[in-house]
Amino acid sequence: MRKSILFLLAGFGLALFFALSCGSGDDAATDGSSGASGPPADPTWENYIQAFFDDYCVRCHSSDLTGSARQNAPVGIDYDTYELAVQNADHAKTHVSDGMMPPSDPLPTDAERNALVKWVDNGTPQN
Ligand code: HEC
Repeated sequence: MRKSILFLLAGFGLALFFALSCGSGDDAATDGSSGASGPPADPTWENYIQAFFDDYCVRCHSSDLTGSARQNAPVGIDYDTYELAVQNADHAKTHVSDGMMPPSDPLPTDAERNALVKWVDNGTPQN
């Protein structure tokens, strides 16, 4: 009887130890990734801008879309590849910073708009 209680306590202690050590490991991982949740300080096509256009623009501005699927987005103003995005970058900067684009939800945050502007100002780096 006494022995089994000891085992129980030892087992509990061990479980607690692992729970604590795992817990602190997870915290470190969370801290590391929370810093990356906003746009990066030096946005590139690879690390952020492709995702920005995917999230906010290509449902209208994609070279894959024709006719009414473009929802009146002008033909030739597309953001689904790096080359097209670079070609239309200055125009994107103007209308993302003046708030005209995107015209409807989901809307980018100010930090996300600023990242797009910074990418264009930095010469549209790919990576
Ligand atoms: C819901 C569809 C839709 C989304 C999403 C959208 N646009 Fe547009 N975009 C349009 C339409 C419609 C026009 C043409 C009418 C206008 O100029 O307001 C347009 C026009 C433009 C123009 C040309 C404006 C001009 O002066 O001729 C640019 C540049 C542009 N969009 C960039 C973007 C960018 C960058 C995004 C993402 C941040 C975006 N758009 C998201 C529908 C969209």
